[in-house]
Amino acid sequence: MSDKPTIREHWSGAWGFILAAAGSAIGLGNIWKFPYITGENGGGAFVLVYLLCIAVIGAPVMICEFALGRHTQRNPVGAFQALSPKTSVLAHLVGIGVLLAGLFLLLFGSWGWSVLLIALGLLIFRYGWTLVGVMGVTAGFTILSFYSVVAGWTIGYIWKAATNQLNFANVAMAKEHFDHFILHPGWAIGCHFLFMLLCVLIVYKGVRSGIERWSKILMPVLFLIILVLIVRSLTLPGAMAGVRFYLTPDFSKINANSVLIALGHAFFSLSLGMGAMITYGSYISREENLFSATLSVVGLDTLIALMAGLAIFPAVFAQGFGPDAGPGLVFQVLPTVFHQIPFGAFWAFLFFLLLMIAALTSGISLLEVVTAYFVDERGWARHRAAVAFGLAIFLLGSLCAISVADWSRLEGLQAVLLKIFGTTKASFFDTMDNLSSNWFLPLGGLFIALFTGWIWGTKHALDEIRHGSSNFGDVHLFSLLAGLKDDPSHNSRIHVVTLASLWGIFIRFISPVAVLIAFLHTVGWLDLRP
Ligand code: TRP
Repeated sequence: MSDKPTIREHWSGAWGFILAAAGSAIGLGNIWKFPYITGENGGGAFVLVYLLCIAVIGAPVMICEFALGRHTQRNPVGAFQALSPKTSVLAHLVGIGVLLAGLFLLLFGSWGWSVLLIALGLLIFRYGWTLVGVMGVTAGFTILSFYSVVAGWTIGYIWKAATNQLNFANVAMAKEHFDHFILHPGWAIGCHFLFMLLCVLIVYKGVRSGIERWSKILMPVLFLIILVLIVRSLTLPGAMAGVRFYLTPDFSKINANSVLIALGHAFFSLSLGMGAMITYGSYISREENLFSATLSVVGLDTLIALMAGLAIFPAVFAQGFGPDAGPGLVFQVLPTVFHQIPFGAFWAFLFFLLLMIAALTSGISLLEVVTAYFVDERGWARHRAAVAFGLAIFLLGSLCAISVADWSRLEGLQAVLLKIFGTTKASFFDTMDNLSSNWFLPLGGLFIALFTGWIWGTKHALDEIRHGSSNFGDVHLFSLLAGLKDDPSHNSRIHVVTLASLWGIFIRFISPVAVLIAFLHTVGWLDLRP
């Protein structure tokens, strides 16, 4: 595996790694998306379901990613390559299945999909599990292309707050301003460019003096800003209505659909499913305790999401707005809220700065996945990879930036896609979002869990996890089911369920099934709505 002469850079210690990984996890997902999906799905009860998804699905999968990365010391593609068996029956079966589906579609004349599936089937047959890594690197590309557009908006809004332009009397005015702003090509592309530039500059500097150093500076700042905003929000008259909405669970507002939204978001929020945590894991030293690191990262990510809700809902309710404004909640409702309280422009500035910092430490993790692949597998210099792919993502993202609302500015591209695939999503921006969030991430998470549980094997993964975390516990009762029956710990005289065995069971059965159901639901092949 380590046939490369260069020494891989590592985090300076546990804290640097935890802050960097938490920086990746904490992002627009926590501060922009979590509050609005909580608002749309009824508040408190949804928060509880989300916490459950984080604990039982998110945390186990994150341990898998860290272990895969640290064991192989590679990017996602290299990691899967290093651990894949020569032939995998499962991979062959999936390959044949996809191939047959492609041939079947040929009968119905949808040749675009059919060619795509046949090619995919052949690739799966040929490359097997390595393709999961390839999908991860591709997802890094597609996610960052739209993520950096939204992150760019935060830069625009920082500027607007600083120059006191966010003085809206009502949400309708704020919405009009926002719609106009995101459709303005100069603003949208300019801000998107600035954001990508910041990402490239940090990734260019490398693991320790780039990613770790900036995470160590930016994450505490983020924490302080959000604390200040919570205090401001909670001390507004009428804030308690928001707290009540946010923290009182009403399970009648929850249905199967909300549960699946919570599960999907748990994945996105923890940066799982595309190998970002495999890549960050590959920079951890063997002395580090993966288990407690996972708990810290998951804990910090959840804490910040909960805090974001506590900063936003009391303010929104105090000023008499509803919580269900959707994606516009933080860009439209909040500026209006801030405008009504003293020193509003200052609070708005602070809030959008918070959002930008959160997005930045996530953006660098996405760019790092692509960069690490070209550095490890293609022998590129880090500098060259960071700049080249930063630029490539900027270009793809520019297409997203000018097409957030519809295809009107990309009619040529739409015509081509329509010809090949028969349908297109609402816009190019939506297409990238949909492709990554609904396809790449859940499939990636599914295969990462299956691979760790059944191909690499929980026993081998646990051997890796045990480095630096000897107290991981001994196993008896469930060790057979968890695939640990040859492990020495199997001889423990005390019949206890341990975290190790629970983890194995989750990884082998529960996480894959849960993710599969969520996936089938989001792509519309399974309808659980009452
Ligand atoms: N977790 C980040 C957020 O909450 C987004 C993100 C960064 C991400 N890296 C990722 C999502 C990798 C999925 C995979 O905003």
